[in-house]
Amino acid sequence: MNVADSDEMARYLAKRGWEPTCDPDEATIYLVNTCTVRQHAEDRALSEIGRLRRWKAQKPNRKVVITGCAAERTKEFLEMRFPHIDIVVGARSIKEFGGIVDGLLETQETDESLEYALGVPDGKVSTFVTIMRGCNYSCSYCIVPNVRGRESYRAMDEVIEEVRERANQGVREVTLLGQTVNSYHRGGSKGRDTDFSDLLEAVACVDGIERIRFISPHPYYMTERVIGAMAQVRAVCEGLHLPVQSGSNTILKSMLRNYTCDHYLKLVARLRSAMPDIVISTDLIVGFPGETEEDFRRTLSLIKEVNFDWGFVFKYSPRQGTLAADLPLHPIELIEERHHECLDLVERIGLKRRSRLIGSIQEVLVEEDNFGRTRGNYKMKVDRVISPGDIVRAVVTNVDHATLGGECVAEPISV
Ligand code: 5AD
Ligand code: SF4
Repeated sequence: MNVADSDEMARYLAKRGWEPTCDPDEATIYLVNTCTVRQHAEDRALSEIGRLRRWKAQKPNRKVVITGCAAERTKEFLEMRFPHIDIVVGARSIKEFGGIVDGLLETQETDESLEYALGVPDGKVSTFVTIMRGCNYSCSYCIVPNVRGRESYRAMDEVIEEVRERANQGVREVTLLGQTVNSYHRGGSKGRDTDFSDLLEAVACVDGIERIRFISPHPYYMTERVIGAMAQVRAVCEGLHLPVQSGSNTILKSMLRNYTCDHYLKLVARLRSAMPDIVISTDLIVGFPGETEEDFRRTLSLIKEVNFDWGFVFKYSPRQGTLAADLPLHPIELIEERHHECLDLVERIGLKRRSRLIGSIQEVLVEEDNFGRTRGNYKMKVDRVISPGDIVRAVVTNVDHATLGGECVAEPISV
């Protein structure tokens, strides 16, 4: 979500004539888009902001702009602790970003909101399109609802219009974005005339769109209709990042996740029977308060049972203001031990799953030079340079840590 917000802000600034640079010495504006989902992310943002004191002191007309979720949560602290900051725009105020920076940079005033800014071309083959903001869940570990507020959904025709515009600019793949992206619904007296599966079908009808992905779905909304649309709509890719968080029903309950392991396992079986080649990845949290050795072993068993293709494993990080914040913490050594063991298992299983792809033919959407992505969302390097946006069929000859390598077996399909 933060990457998508950064893209939107960058496109807004580009529209106002600002150009991106990798060299801070050249820059006039330094924008730090912060994340607060775990303490580690917030700490990294704080040290980056600290380093900008010198950057600003070198040329005082430079502007330091801090945005995002940590900015939302800690606005007063940031302004007090880092006087070199020019402005803080919290995640909830993203729609006002345009007006705020225009004021700061003394460019022309605008009434254009940045809530879902239509972009200027950025030459990308693949892009994010935000379809909802906020979250109505209150998973007990999660700060997101506090900093991003309650769910709001974009109108379907507005989403389609943005997709169409991006497709006209050369985009071939869209990733629909939202905190619980598959809960999408709109219209009618009950507000549910259209749902996420209708949206998938409508996006697939946009000329030029070859691929559709979405993050992050919540298992609860992975309905038959959504699975059906995934299986039937050719553009929807066979790759799904489906956060499970824990393999223990006790912990899932205390996390307020609204599903059980059994529900999750049945869902995976259903997805695999509808799409045998589907690549399934996940998020896991280890060391949640109250997680016993047995709970942890259950998580390891679930990983083996599902056979995840890959996954992120996070150490539990208490976030002030969440329901779990006051629960007693495990010693850090124990969390680290579990993290290590869990990560190791996820990586071993993932490598085994990727090895099975050797000899298979993959469709690769080329993003740059000879790199592209498979439908399952693996990065793949092919044996020749292809134009960005073309799709090539390639046989997998080797697998690296996270990248596949292969050879083209036919001429690229220019799309
Ligand atoms: N501690 C550790 N991991 C967290 N996540 C969210 N909040 C926390 C937290 N407090 C993880 C979840 C989520 C991902 C984006 O970050 O696994 O799916
Ligand atoms: Fe956080 Fe849960 Fe909402 Fe995901 S569904 S953003 S984990 S509260």
